[in-house]
Amino acid sequence: MAQSVGILGQECFDLKKKAIAHLHDYSFMEEIPTIDYSLLFSKDHNERSKSLEHLGKACQEFGFFYLINGVEERVVEGALKGISDFFELTNQEERSEYLKKNSVDRIRWYLRSDAGENRENLKIVTHPEYHCPGKPDSCKDAIGEYLKGMHEVELGLAKAISTILGYEETYIEKEFKLEAGFDVATFNLYPPSLQSKGSIGLAEHTDPGFFVSLIQNVNGGLQMLSHKGNWITVNIPRNRIFIGIGDHLEILTNGKYKSHIHQVILDNNKVKRISMATLHGPSLDTFVAPTPGFIDDSHPPTYRGMTYKESLELNGFDEIDVQSSLIQLR
Ligand code: SIN
Ligand code: FE2
Repeated sequence: MAQSVGILGQECFDLKKKAIAHLHDYSFMEEIPTIDYSLLFSKDHNERSKSLEHLGKACQEFGFFYLINGVEERVVEGALKGISDFFELTNQEERSEYLKKNSVDRIRWYLRSDAGENRENLKIVTHPEYHCPGKPDSCKDAIGEYLKGMHEVELGLAKAISTILGYEETYIEKEFKLEAGFDVATFNLYPPSLQSKGSIGLAEHTDPGFFVSLIQNVNGGLQMLSHKGNWITVNIPRNRIFIGIGDHLEILTNGKYKSHIHQVILDNNKVKRISMATLHGPSLDTFVAPTPGFIDDSHPPTYRGMTYKESLELNGFDEIDVQSSLIQLR
């Protein structure tokens, strides 16, 4: 029953790191690609196919990219203010109202210092139903507007990536049942690092789902493990959203696209940093496995298929608290 043996947690990371070390040296990492979302749907055929090609390269060779013209800058700024207001205008005692009480809680707050990290974290389920703290008033609508825009972008990227992979435009949307897709947004507050230089803000992990979108108030902290095996700091230029491939697109493509190991280090941050990462996933009951188009004699399936819910829960968390969710076959 070799097919049922999965490699989880640290062992899975080690394997992924080893695989990274064997990839080609693209010497690219200073130049994270930028994808213009509007060009993916350009009426000009040449422009559209050029930008689809660019996106395909970004997904395959990098696993992450910056996106422009996806969500209006005003809306992104509004969401960042909403998150900042949440952390500024409530105190920790009020926030602790959202400490997990049971597994169906759709809003959860944690002080992660007891887990060896240096951050405060709020997780909310944002799709198919939107949950958000009602206090302060500025929070719910502003973040909701951003998430609505991002959901549209998610559907657009699903269309573009399906096309690039040689499928019908609606393939991923249907296969991942995105109309009921399970999306979780996680807000992070990292303290200034004056006394904690080099300390871990968020431990290394990959993100579950189709992809993750990330916005932040200041640069500094987020690092991706490059194909060379170096930690590269991600500086998100103004008016861009950072997009990374998630574990389940890696599984679906049988490893053609790869999710990336990343972490947050508190280094030289003079001010506190806030970020919001949104995990855009399939519906919880979607069975995700390598698809036949990516399997042949020289590419046997490398991941174990299971429902999204099962894969989120397999690392010993429940469906909202999970981080990495890759399960490779031996
Ligand atoms: C995350 O990976 O969930 C967040 C990373 C960040 O705060 O930049
Ligand atoms: Fe992440």
